[in-house]
Amino acid sequence: MPTTVITGSAGGIGGGMAKAFYDRGFNVVISDLNQTLLDERIKEIAGANAEGRIHSVICNVTDPQQVRALWDQAVQHYGQIDYWINNAGLGVPRNIYTSRVSIV
Ligand SMILES: NC(=O)c1ccc[n+]([C@@H]2O[C@H](COP(=O)([O-])OP(=O)(O)OC[C@H]3O[C@@H](n4cnc5c(N)ncnc54)[C@H](O)[C@@H]3O)[C@@H](O)[C@H]2O)c1
Repeated sequence: MPTTVITGSAGGIGGGMAKAFYDRGFNVVISDLNQTLLDERIKEIAGANAEGRIHSVICNVTDPQQVRALWDQAVQHYGQIDYWINNAGLGVPRNIYTSRVSIV
């Protein structure tokens, strides 16, 4: 079964992608800053039927050592990584009317 790693997947889009991959039979490694949120996300996605196909790892993507550890733990858990989605990030809302053209 292919394996997908998704950073920032306690959040909205990452969590949605994690569910989409899980529902299609993938192994999924979800990852974010907060273990409680990751545990809640696993319950939402897999309920009591995780079947070992979903696994969480804490990772702050601004720390290269944590990203390396995420990679290593995913490989250790599922043997390989087929897809890696760099989703973690912060939205910085801007007002289109007051922003300069160069940053819109
Ligand atoms: N929602 C939008 O309209 C939109 C538009 C353009 C781009 N994006 C980008 O898409 C991605 C997902 O957006 P979303 O709407 O699901 O946001 P979200 O806030 O719901 O999810 C982002 C997740 O990233 C995590 N995160 C933040 N910094 C992190 C770090 N250093 N290490 C690990 N995890 C970290 C957060 O804890 C959060 O769970 C983000 O990168 C965002 O910037 C979103």
